[in-house]
Amino acid sequence: MTVVKALARAKINLSLDILGKRSDGYHELESVMQSVSLADELIFRPAAGVSLTASDPNLAVDESNTVLRAVRRMQEAAGSARGVEIFLQKRIPSGAGLGGGSADAAAVLVALNRWWGLNLPLPALEEIAADVGSDVPFCLTGGTALVRGRGERVTRLPPLPAVRILLVKPPVSVETAEVYRRFQAAAAGRRPETERMIAAVKNGEIHELTSAWGNLLEKVTSELRPEVAAAKKWLESYGLPVLMTGSGPTLFALLPEGFRKSREIEAILKEKGWWTHEGRLAGEGVEVRICWKGGEDGGEKTVGPDCS
Ligand code: C5P
Repeated sequence: MTVVKALARAKINLSLDILGKRSDGYHELESVMQSVSLADELIFRPAAGVSLTASDPNLAVDESNTVLRAVRRMQEAAGSARGVEIFLQKRIPSGAGLGGGSADAAAVLVALNRWWGLNLPLPALEEIAADVGSDVPFCLTGGTALVRGRGERVTRLPPLPAVRILLVKPPVSVETAEVYRRFQAAAAGRRPETERMIAAVKNGEIHELTSAWGNLLEKVTSELRPEVAAAKKWLESYGLPVLMTGSGPTLFALLPEGFRKSREIEAILKEKGWWTHEGRLAGEGVEVRICWKGGEDGGEKTVGPDCS
């Protein structure tokens, strides 16, 4: 029996600039996005129909879930109603700005493309991905990339080193659509300097990167959730560069290699009911392993989004 396992990595926005509102209601973005080591895990097994179960009982596992939306798109691409049973081990918090739902969908696209032998080229997968959600095209390949348009134009950048990061999220979620609705360019905070960011990524200059970064949605979410602004100030008092990811409310801090206070910070925030996670920047979004159980050719191999 073949079992397919996929790691679906979360993303952070090292910058998020909004260039304007589009006629389709979405916003025109310019964002440097980055995969991180935090990942959900998906396990795929052959089945007659399609089913999804998740480790988190609060997660909606109906057709609104990005995992099932991605499966349906792949069935359409395959031209047949092939079945699959999926178990989703959730580690990325939902409604956090970490792109968890997008990462899960990207993992489905990469895994089924390979397993069902569709072998769609990356541009075709990216088109399907954009249909499922704005962050899904980035999550397919991940790493470090400049993302434009609604999220569908992904230009890969050279990988950043595996810098230590601390993610912190208050015990509240925000709805992306609401944050964008409240966004008004006139009231926005400091815009990121995207050109400088790209140069800093290319040169691997982390200090330069953090002096040029910014997230235009941070002010909106901080007004909705004042604890976000307070936590940012507090983390900055440790001398850390801190930014909100996506529409929030998760903040991330880049940690110097020898930084020793992350345990202390995590303990204080956990006491208040916050979710925290220490990880690293990661070089790819999705990792798929196809495992053959039993038989003489039992073994496994790892495949990427380009089916190599
Ligand atoms: O595409 P996705 O479902 O992830 O987007 C969630 C919501 O975020 C959209 O309904 C839209 O209100 C907002 N959004 C936007 N512009 C983008 C991406 C998302 O306005 N580029």
